[in-house]
Amino acid sequence: MTTELVQLSFNGPIATIVLNRAAKLNALNAEMLAALETYADELDRNQEVRVVLLAGTGKAFCVGADIYEWSDLSPLEMGRRWIRDGHRIFARYARLPQPVIAVLNGYTFGGGLELALAADLRLAAEGVQLSFPEVKLGIIPGWGGTQRLAQLIGPSRAKQMIFSGERVAAEQAETWGLVNEVVPPEKLAEQALELARTIAANGPVAVQLTKQLIDAAFPASGDSGVVLETLAGSLASYTADAQEGVAAFRQRRQPQFSGR
Ligand code: COA
Repeated sequence: MTTELVQLSFNGPIATIVLNRAAKLNALNAEMLAALETYADELDRNQEVRVVLLAGTGKAFCVGADIYEWSDLSPLEMGRRWIRDGHRIFARYARLPQPVIAVLNGYTFGGGLELALAADLRLAAEGVQLSFPEVKLGIIPGWGGTQRLAQLIGPSRAKQMIFSGERVAAEQAETWGLVNEVVPPEKLAEQALELARTIAANGPVAVQLTKQLIDAAFPASGDSGVVLETLAGSLASYTADAQEGVAAFRQRRQPQFSGR
């Protein structure tokens, strides 16, 4: 499955995936998820590729799951399909043999941040904002965010970000270890490529083994975390609060949550 909305290109040993739905700030729909999965399969088998870059076009890296798409699903379908699809596909990137670098050019929200967290490294342009705004919609980060964020920056800061839904600037995110490096926007692509080239010049087997060893020391989300997140995501989508959150987003107003 391929689509214009996600593009894969090769430059020597470096593969670049670009989320290309700028008009919707690269919000991820089912078509894009399917393309991401196809590309993960291809990259996993391609031994010529030594580093994978994940990038976005326009003013966002990715603002998360397409609210218009998932809000039409029943809670059962959310759990059976949408949430499970995201978990499976993002895990494919986390487990690619090659290092994956997320290149954050703009808004990195919700599922976009979850995708970036599935990468091994994150470079961000100055001023980029990162957030998990899900609770502002009455739902939860359901594509590994609760697990991977806490693993990466610790439970306390993860809770602050997830409970508040507030945006964190890349500069702050860097001090938390959420972002590896912050660079001027005009240098972002070049710097990402330079880092990719540096890694690609090293022994690929050695690099890939070290990725697996470090991941083995820090298992981001065990099976139980994934199952719990799937159940919690389905439950949250069933609530009156989630309906109110989505309605408020569509109507561009503040939600009035009732706790039901
Ligand atoms: N899903 C689907 N569409 C989305 C989207 C999402 N997560 N986020 C933005 N869009 C769409 C908007 O509906 C709009 O489409 P339209 O022009 O056809 O109306 C377009 O992308 C541009 O978004 P807009 O809100 O007009 O841009 P902005 O610069 O004013 O605001 C954000 C940018 C990121 C602050 C705002 O779009 C936002 O809060 N998005 C939701 C983020 C979110 O909650 N993500 C988690 C989803 S589970």
